Amino acid sequence: MNINGKLHRTIWFENSIVKIIDQTKLPHQFIIKDLKTVQDSINAIKIMEVRGAPLIGVTAAYGLVLSIIENNDYSFLKKSSENLIASRPTAINLKWAVDRMMKKLSGINSNEILKIATEEAKAIADEDINFCKNIGLNGLKIIEKIAEKKKGVVNILTHCNAGWLATIDWGTATSPIYHAHKKGIKVHVWVDETRPRNQGANLTSYELNEEGIPNTIIADNTGGILMQRDQVDMCIVGTDRTLSNGDVCNKIGTYLKALAAKDNNVPFYVALPSSTIDWNINDHKKIFIEERNPEELSHIEGLDKDNKLKKILIYPQKSKSLNLAFDVTPAKYVTGLITEKGVCEASEQGLKELFK
Ligand code: MRU
Repeated sequence: MNINGKLHRTIWFENSIVKIIDQTKLPHQFIIKDLKTVQDSINAIKIMEVRGAPLIGVTAAYGLVLSIIENNDYSFLKKSSENLIASRPTAINLKWAVDRMMKKLSGINSNEILKIATEEAKAIADEDINFCKNIGLNGLKIIEKIAEKKKGVVNILTHCNAGWLATIDWGTATSPIYHAHKKGIKVHVWVDETRPRNQGANLTSYELNEEGIPNTIIADNTGGILMQRDQVDMCIVGTDRTLSNGDVCNKIGTYLKALAAKDNNVPFYVALPSSTIDWNINDHKKIFIEERNPEELSHIEGLDKDNKLKKILIYPQKSKSLNLAFDVTPAKYVTGLITEKGVCEASEQGLKELFK
């Protein structure tokens, strides 16, 4: 998608270096950062220079390429794969991508392994773009129906950033919105700020602005009253892990938005590539929910009056805080899952009919 009118992907491989857009600096600074070692990839995932389920999967795949460049020894590669998987625990794409790479590389001799690993990491990235594009085309049909009925601007609420910055291109939740905009359908997006890391304000609003899509940032608790006032026609969010029973684990706060949507008869859709489905788990209590540094809550970063990035404390110094990064929305609150293969019911049967 566009930044300053120039097309970008979120990650690419050039001259043995992985290039990323450093998302910790957006929206105030656009910085392309080099990852040269597997440890650089692990750090980038941990501190969220890259984030979003599909993008951390691809970063991990390229992390294995960097591992091979550093040390072409299988035991080093194995250790790298374990460290990459441990770098963020909730989004399943990370493990999915590492497992896919390791399966592809098993038994490959050391002369060929770098070439095959590089090709496979690129294949995962290209496949994700294709998946996201198709998610967009499938979700577009839903927006078209709402637009036809409403005959006015379609107001869509989204949480966190499930945009192109969270994937390689197009995004998941935003892809139907981009496709609708390109088709001339009038859309407006309510962007949940998404505390504490503000992915909505810092990333979703930023990328929608760059594509010329009208959007308004709201505090995370504003969605409910907007739904009561009929100012939300649909919600679309992403997911970090979709359980085999259709429950969806996504950024903290998604669950409360789904409850408000149910109470107000607002359709609540979840957009996902199949790489986000965890076929092995159907009980949300078995998912490890990442708990991040409480400093992400107690401190906030922004531009000071001299246009310099500055971090400040906003909580009482003695207060404790708890920073759970994700929650789970039970399938019964999800109107449908928008996938690369089509839209299905959020249920085991719905998923199986599409994918098995
Ligand atoms: O903590 P983050 O920013 O990595 O969380 C991202 C999300 O929760 C997204 O909604 C999810 O990964 C889907 S991205 C297409």
